[in-house]
Amino acid sequence: MKPVIKWSGSKRTQSNKIKLFFPNSFGTYYEPFIGGGSMLYTINPEKSICGDICKPLIDLWKEIRDNPSLLADEYTFRWKRLQEEGYTAYYEIRDNFNISKSPYDLLFLSRTCVNGLIRFNDKGEFNNSLHYSRSGIKPESLRDIIKDWSTHIQGINFLADDYTITTSTAKSGDIVYLDPPYFHTKGRYFGTINFDKFLRYLDDLNQRGIKYLLSFDGKRGDTDYTINLPKELYKRHELLPSGNSTFRKVIDKENEKVFESLYMNY
Ligand SMILES: C[S@@+](CC[C@H](N)C(=O)[O-])C[C@H]1O[C@@H](n2cnc3c(N)ncnc32)[C@H](O)[C@@H]1O
Repeated sequence: MKPVIKWSGSKRTQSNKIKLFFPNSFGTYYEPFIGGGSMLYTINPEKSICGDICKPLIDLWKEIRDNPSLLADEYTFRWKRLQEEGYTAYYEIRDNFNISKSPYDLLFLSRTCVNGLIRFNDKGEFNNSLHYSRSGIKPESLRDIIKDWSTHIQGINFLADDYTITTSTAKSGDIVYLDPPYFHTKGRYFGTINFDKFLRYLDDLNQRGIKYLLSFDGKRGDTDYTINLPKELYKRHELLPSGNSTFRKVIDKENEKVFESLYMNY
């Protein structure tokens, strides 16, 4: 899978492992913290509702689904400007995004900014800089990736909303995959969530007979970052090796083993 939207905290390297824990059959697939959508791509469900609190991100998902050719053209236009005009083009497009929240600008920024990391400040403004030493993915390569994802996500409903709203229509037999922001890394994601509210939400899913899988926290080397999730909220807890190399590079401890938790209520 080649990511169409590069997103911080992506489950790309883990999605095949997580898939093994899904039930064999289920009704609607819900993913209320969609980010870069790697789990959605891997599961490839027939029926699905996905959401995220980050509205520009959801607008971009809708463009990938509904207007793939136009989106690829818009990227080509901006990419050519960058090659011809240099950094001023990048910063003009960034300023424009922070006013208009255009999904075309967002896609371009995500492909040309430092380390491809979509990053917003507290005001919701995109604030990452241009990656000077790279020219950004070639338009024709990105066009192929956009087309591939577009065929994958036809018929998927995307909502720019809180996770509780996105999953409010779920019923028994459906499945919810949850990948919320880490509670101890405030500021790493767009939006934050309240831990107690989240625990009440898991309880509510249990009461409604809805199956969930929750990617949560983990262990790094000898350090245990697992958060005590009340035992009555889940039935199974697995620690999956994480291939999150960006994280490893950042902390510069190449040989430390990184694990991430997966909780299930079935
Ligand atoms: C860890 S990321 C998800 C990454 C995703 N699984 C992937 O593979 O790219 C967490 C996501 O939760 C979103 N988010 C934060 N607070 C939220 C809320 N209250 N409701 C819905 N989404 C929220 C963030 O915008 C972010 O996209």
